[in-house]
Amino acid sequence: MKLSALLSASIAILFDLTWALPPLPRDLTDCASRRSLRHSNPSSRIEGLQTETSSSSANTTIQFSGNWSGAVLVSPPTGEIFTSAIGTFTVPSMPSEGNGAAAAWVGIDGDTFATAILQAGVFFSVSGDTVEYGAWYEWWPDFATDVDTNDFPVSAGDVITVNIQATSNSEGTVTLVNESTGMSFTIDLTSPTKLSFLGGQNAEWIVEDYTQNGGLVPLADWGTVTFVNASASTSANNKLGLEDATVFDIEQFNDIMTSVSINSDSSVSISYA
Ligand SMILES: *[C@@H]1O[C@H](CO)[C@@H](O)[C@H](O)[C@H]1NC(C)=O
Ligand SMILES: *[C@@H]1O[C@H](CO)[C@@H](O)[C@H](O)[C@H]1NC(C)=O
Ligand SMILES: *[C@@H]1O[C@H](CO)[C@@H](O)[C@H](O)[C@H]1NC(C)=O
Ligand SMILES: *[C@@H]1O[C@H](CO)[C@@H](O)[C@H](O)[C@H]1NC(C)=O
Repeated sequence: MKLSALLSASIAILFDLTWALPPLPRDLTDCASRRSLRHSNPSSRIEGLQTETSSSSANTTIQFSGNWSGAVLVSPPTGEIFTSAIGTFTVPSMPSEGNGAAAAWVGIDGDTFATAILQAGVFFSVSGDTVEYGAWYEWWPDFATDVDTNDFPVSAGDVITVNIQATSNSEGTVTLVNESTGMSFTIDLTSPTKLSFLGGQNAEWIVEDYTQNGGLVPLADWGTVTFVNASASTSANNKLGLEDATVFDIEQFNDIMTSVSINSDSSVSISYA
């Protein structure tokens, strides 16, 4: 990569910083993948808009966010930490034309514990008449790293299980499984910095408006993403479902962009509204 390109890429990264200086993202070592400086970010809660009313179920708490929609377990049982989060979803179909994107993922931390996220999932985007799908993983504040499409070729309709395992506060394993074939992709990750060790305080199932090259992508109409078989496990081997999850809706420019419902203890549906 030419130095000038490297510099302008670095400046783009600097503008994306909200919290700390990350090391140079892995993507930068490969000019070909520079266009995908995607970043899935912490929840960016909008305070003061909380409400206890919900169309879905009686006692659901709704939290608004600039970026996240879905279900979040905001704390583990006392004395425990979340060590894994798992969920299965069908990759939604993008409109054949337009300009927008979103990403569906499962992760640990990034909401009330805002200094780290261990996460993986699938992005979907449409730009003009180009529709793109791809799997990725990320340990925030690092940028997302794409899974090679030859290893894991994502398309609409694929049923994918995302399994996030924290083996310690600085190490984890991400596994993506294609439920149609059983084919999987696994990678071990380590915390990119000492400041991004996991707390194991949040577990989440999210569709996100992510940032790309420092700017928030326009949201695409993804229809509905439904996570099934969703659960989180703790250091005491407790398995928790979504029953007590906090529902997150994306709110931008005073518009609520999503509609989220907890269908059961193991399922949440996240719709573009
Ligand atoms: C909602 O919460 C109240 C107070 O905690 C409880 O009495 C009620 O049974 C709950 N309702 C449902 C549907 O869970
Ligand atoms: C999305 O998240 C990023 C990073 O946390 C933040 O800078 C940005 O303001 C958020 N977008 C909105 C619309 O809140
Ligand atoms: C999953 O398997 C189906 C059926 O073979 C295939 O069409 C699709 O590309 C696979 N997707 C991934 C992400 O491996
Ligand atoms: C959910 O889990 C059950 C039980 O393990 C399994 O039979 C089912 O195929 C799973 N559903 C999906 C969509 O993976």
